[in-house]
Amino acid sequence: MAVIPAHVPAELVFDFNIFDPPGAEADYIAAWQALRRPDGPGLVWTPAFGGHWIATDGAVIRRLWADTANLSSQVLAVVPGLGEVMQLIPLQNDGAEHKAFRTPIMKGFAGRHIAALESAVRALAQELIAELKPRGACDFMPDFAEIFPVHIFLSMLGVPVEDRERLRPLGAQLTRPDGTMGVVELRDAVDDYLRPHVRQRLAAPGEDLLSRILAEPVQGRAWTLDEALRMARNVLFAGLDTVAAMVGMVAMHLARYPDDQRLLRGQPDLIPAAADELMRRYPSASVSRNAVADFEVNGVTIKAGDIVYLPSMLHNLDPACFDQPEEARFDRGLNPIHHTTFGVGAHRCVGAGLARMEMIVFLEEWLGALPEFAIDPARPVTMKAGNVGTLTSLPLIWK
Ligand code: HEM
Repeated sequence: MAVIPAHVPAELVFDFNIFDPPGAEADYIAAWQALRRPDGPGLVWTPAFGGHWIATDGAVIRRLWADTANLSSQVLAVVPGLGEVMQLIPLQNDGAEHKAFRTPIMKGFAGRHIAALESAVRALAQELIAELKPRGACDFMPDFAEIFPVHIFLSMLGVPVEDRERLRPLGAQLTRPDGTMGVVELRDAVDDYLRPHVRQRLAAPGEDLLSRILAEPVQGRAWTLDEALRMARNVLFAGLDTVAAMVGMVAMHLARYPDDQRLLRGQPDLIPAAADELMRRYPSASVSRNAVADFEVNGVTIKAGDIVYLPSMLHNLDPACFDQPEEARFDRGLNPIHHTTFGVGAHRCVGAGLARMEMIVFLEEWLGALPEFAIDPARPVTMKAGNVGTLTSLPLIWK
């Protein structure tokens, strides 16, 4: 058990393992709500992983996410040593250095490149759904969610889509480590895969995403091999697990709410707003920051060196931030930058436009091709918490 530092008030200590909160197997989002303390300062301290803060109030989470003066992104995670080993670009960079690396990456993800992908994404969704339809049932996670976005993403990188089998487990080890792989081993496994691809694209750029990013200079100079590898590592980890987790939650919602299926089948023009609202309602990602100065939050002192964990689940489902937050209301008039599913401020997700396009295409194609579907009452829905919370099984049947 970690020693509680003197600046942490005893009443804020609450033992909470972010990878395994009680009840997460059934509903990781509900498990996080146990931390909500409407009368508290909006923070708790857990002794887990050597001790760290967790922001629990929506307004505090949002404020700290944007606070680049007091908080750095260098540490990456509450897992000791992970950030030092991973050295991800741009996720672990701060300030001007972050901007210098993020600018070429943003150009690689520009809207016109995402729009150009849409027809291939649609064709893939149609192919996968056509294969599932005659079965009358599926486990949505292995049968669709873990294939669709990963296949798209690997095609974007210009690497063989069959490599999915090798890469998917590595993505899950970063966001929900199960103790079977050390952090150095994980980084080396990813680098062994990426290095030849990165070298090749630095030498002879093609049309793929990595080539596009590496062809853009970093403040007027070329990327070094080390920087290029750290960037590719970041993009790979960020793209492997996140959309798979999100599309699962969106499908689960529709399976539970047949009225929403009917509404979207009848009015497909509502689908983009529905995608935004469902991504708010079912947030998956949480991030870690390390304090670089002593500062106060609602009378609580955060000291330089402290780690602060920011769960989007406690922002997007805070009734003080969104009216009736548990309800998915497609007419909320939501501006996606107001929820924290994709983060806030300087590090906001560079893949958000891609993820949104995939979600809209998924909804259009799935609802367009399949009859009403529901959760199979004979089999359990299971989830796992982590830096990216996810469903592990979502058994569906067609009605
Ligand atoms: C629904 C799917 C996704 C979710 C929920 C999500 C969530 C997030 C969040 C919360 C951040 C902010 C991290 C922070 O503040 O420390 C982030 C950053 C990032 N995301 Fe995503 N993401 C998704 C999809 C993707 C995809 C598909 C890609 C790439 C193919 C991607 C690439 C990145 C990168 C490179 C960053 C780092 C940005 C920076 O540090 O400036 N994400 N994402």
